[in-house]
Amino acid sequence: MPPPRRQRALSGQAREVTRIMNKRLSTDEVLTADDHLIQSWADLNALKQSSARTVITSAKGIMVRDSDGRDLIDGIGGLWCVNVGHGRTEIIDAIRAQLETLDFYSTFYNFTHPAAAMLAKRLAELAPGSLNKVYFANSGSVANDTAVRMLHHYNNRLGRPEKRKVLSRVGAYHGTTYLAIAMTTPSYSTGWSTAENIVHHLRSPHHWREGDGMTEAEFLDALMEDMRQSIERIGAENICAFIAEPIMGAGGVITAPDGYHRKAQAICRDYDIKYISDEVVTSFGRLGHWFASKDVFGIEPDIITTAKGLTSGYQPLSATIISDEIHEVISSPGGRFMHGVTYSGHPAAAAAGLANIALMERDQIPETVRTTGKTFESAMRSLADLDLVGEVRGSHFMIGMEFVKDRATKASFPDEVEIGLKVSRAAQKRGLIARPLGNSLILSPPLIFTPEIIAKTETILRESIEAVTREI
Ligand SMILES: Cc1ncc(COP(=O)(O)O)c(C=O)c1O
Repeated sequence: MPPPRRQRALSGQAREVTRIMNKRLSTDEVLTADDHLIQSWADLNALKQSSARTVITSAKGIMVRDSDGRDLIDGIGGLWCVNVGHGRTEIIDAIRAQLETLDFYSTFYNFTHPAAAMLAKRLAELAPGSLNKVYFANSGSVANDTAVRMLHHYNNRLGRPEKRKVLSRVGAYHGTTYLAIAMTTPSYSTGWSTAENIVHHLRSPHHWREGDGMTEAEFLDALMEDMRQSIERIGAENICAFIAEPIMGAGGVITAPDGYHRKAQAICRDYDIKYISDEVVTSFGRLGHWFASKDVFGIEPDIITTAKGLTSGYQPLSATIISDEIHEVISSPGGRFMHGVTYSGHPAAAAAGLANIALMERDQIPETVRTTGKTFESAMRSLADLDLVGEVRGSHFMIGMEFVKDRATKASFPDEVEIGLKVSRAAQKRGLIARPLGNSLILSPPLIFTPEIIAKTETILRESIEAVTREI
């Protein structure tokens, strides 16, 4: 290997990057530059007002700091992802060491590298049953697109190319690429277009909103009947997959009736339909286990997709983990895997994943969440005594609460009241970031929340909800 060249002084441009990293920009400077940035899922018109934007400049543990120097509790873990907390040197050092050794090489054609290979092996060990083969990409959306594309190819190889439709559900969130958004609940496509004739949405499994006077058991039967009838109508020979999040996340944290996933899987097996479990949020400790499908919900899916907590957000990385049986078909002689993204298994991302798993194992994070997550859940459920709160739902560190105008009738506030946004603003003023979602508020904090922080979060939310109640 040639001796390292002597480092030249940083160019003006590189000095500028360093200055930005060192947080020496004023809020105004950032917001002026930010006029060029398009935020995700945002009201772009509202964001023309700088006061509607928060500049986050640094983070450590469960806290983030804004550009005015205010420290805020990160009640949403970045975006359901910073599971081990911010600023963990174990992961940062692993990423740096990886970049110094091998900054980038692809896993295209016949190439591979140690970090991607070792992470694939670790995921195969952690995932349930025969889920032993892993395709890496950079987002949950692409992981889900990949799952469906693989199943289309699988069915093509089996000589049944018409078996390509997907069953999803009203309320689901599976991402924002063209196929993933088609699998997402239709309301997320308002004013936009989606891929047509490929996805059928089954009924939402939200008993509190959709139960219509039925007991939970009756509602479960109705949901399964809807699934069977939909399959009969569409024809099982035209359906490749059912995709479901163990707990719906961005649809408002919706937990299906007990036994839903087991029964849905049994129906899928009856009709030879593959079960894709979208664990982009529910894996890597959020519900107290590496993966929730088997350990929490008792099913062995044919494919699990994951992202977010896989690297705790330190690097963009997702995985589509498929069964040996699917792999056997798509790797049989006579075909080629015509799918790929440049950064599949990027060395830095794979190193982040390996370090994240090692850290979670060392600190027994999934095991700890079985206690602390339950404490968090009960603290959040205790807010259900407030008049504004219609339902608190979810599990462990994945909680949603829906605000109502009238608890008896469950009547919602009109959209223009922006009740979720009002409560989230009140909470941010008091030092907590919580995510508004229509009439609901979502909490998905780092999994290292202690009982003291949980109590503080509860107090802030109680005060915020009370303040908004007075205001409206
Ligand atoms: C359950 C679920 N699936 C898929 C996605 C899409 O992931 P990404 O935003 O990384 O594309 C998300 C994102 O929030 C998600 O919550």
